[in-house]
Amino acid sequence: MIAERKDDHVRFAAEQQRHLGGYNQFDEVSFVHHALAGIDRSDASLVTRFGGMEWKVPLYINAMTGGSTRTGAINRDLAIAARETGVPIATGSMSAYFADEAVADTFSVLRSENPDGFVMANINANASVEKARRAVDLLRADALQIHLNVIQETVMPEGDRSFSSWGPQIEKIADGVGPDVPVIVKEVGFGLSRETISALSDMGVRVADVAGRGGTDFARIENDRRKHADYAYLNGWGQSAPACLLDSQHAAIPVLASGGVRNPLDVVRGLALGAAAVGVSGGFLRTVLDGGPSALITQITTWLDQVEALMTALGARTPADLSRCDVLVHGDLRAFCADRGID
Ligand code: FNR
Repeated sequence: MIAERKDDHVRFAAEQQRHLGGYNQFDEVSFVHHALAGIDRSDASLVTRFGGMEWKVPLYINAMTGGSTRTGAINRDLAIAARETGVPIATGSMSAYFADEAVADTFSVLRSENPDGFVMANINANASVEKARRAVDLLRADALQIHLNVIQETVMPEGDRSFSSWGPQIEKIADGVGPDVPVIVKEVGFGLSRETISALSDMGVRVADVAGRGGTDFARIENDRRKHADYAYLNGWGQSAPACLLDSQHAAIPVLASGGVRNPLDVVRGLALGAAAVGVSGGFLRTVLDGGPSALITQITTWLDQVEALMTALGARTPADLSRCDVLVHGDLRAFCADRGID
């Protein structure tokens, strides 16, 4: 049952990637061009430090899959690409592992193929502290992601219908996994508001990943999985990553940007809006399904090269320096800022 769902998610997410329009809200963010801002490439560094962690690059492969034979093979390909390029990587939700240990390899392949990489385990907000520890142990994980997916669960025929325990449980997990395991709470493509991020910070969560609207749409995926698209009106729900980043400018914890990231310029836009690093799921899934690990290695290598090139042109020595660039906000994103009282 879970294995089938995991295969469905990959199938529908890949299908969605083929039909994504070119435009999303990252296009409503542009840079003021300063012709003399450029620095020397040799002075630019991709290293990013946040939440007590240091990543070699400000780009990561965000949570997707595991739990079936097919998704185990995909995780293997993603792990090879992570190993060869040095990007951090997350598994998909490990609930399939808690239900049946026989699928452990489909997740632990992230570590076996990538022994020295930065690997993140992924669980839901209902998981017990004991399960959170098992997930971390299986992967020798460097961090633990907890996903919030209330809209997905609502549209999912077999989804959860009770959500009030999530907050208290996140607090227990953040406390129970201990100080050596940073807890990152993420959405799955609907975004995190500043109120949510502030609540997460109070719960002891180390980092928030906004995972906004504009790329993979899990309302649409779950509608596709239903006999009828009963909740079609929820497709497109939520806030985009740029909107979330602008909303959370004064957040007490570091914020990561993901959801709808299409190219190196989106990575740089995310960093300029204050993200400590930028994650990609659907776009990298499509690459690995079409061309295997070698295609993803080429794509990530190119992106990292171009992110550093753009930092050089914009005068940013570090990813954090990008947040000092002059950025213009247009269109609906500008209206969102006005409505939320953001200057
Ligand atoms: C996901 N995502 C996800 N997130 C999570 O925390 N746990 C999970 O199990 C999954 N599963 C999953 C499967 C597939 C096939 C995809 C494409 C994505 C959500 C993912 O981490 C991310 O938040 C969203 O996909 C938005 O980013 P993109 O796809 O627009 O880059």
